[in-house]
Amino acid sequence: LSSIQVDISGVAEGTQLTVKWLGKPVFIRHRTAEEIERARADDGATLIDPLSQNANKPDASAADANRSLDEEGRWLVQIGVCTHLGCVPIGDGAGDFGGWFCPCHGSHYDASGRIRRGPAPQNMHIPVASFVDDTTIKLG
Ligand code: FES
Repeated sequence: LSSIQVDISGVAEGTQLTVKWLGKPVFIRHRTAEEIERARADDGATLIDPLSQNANKPDASAADANRSLDEEGRWLVQIGVCTHLGCVPIGDGAGDFGGWFCPCHGSHYDASGRIRRGPAPQNMHIPVASFVDDTTIKLG
């Protein structure tokens, strides 16, 4: 498996960097305090997919803390592919749950990348990822 390192020093809070890895877009989002709070408040909501879908925590629940890369929840790294039929969702708070929206058939993802409404069956997948240092994330 090939791995890459991504410099996240220029990714301002409230924005997202998209990089290509293994032929797929990977969304690296620097979440605001408000997004983190909203994502964590939604842990108690009825979730379509109860699993984290996080390659780093295979059997964990979909609680936001099991999806963010750091404990504080500032960084959310996920494969930017809709789990329905593979379109690339629109980000920056899109959709009815303030996360991502897939325009192909109307799937709404929340601020944690969890599917909340629409035909997608799973939360957006989280790839193997880790911090190399404060400003570098390794994928793979
Ligand atoms: Fe995203 Fe169908 S591919 S809703």
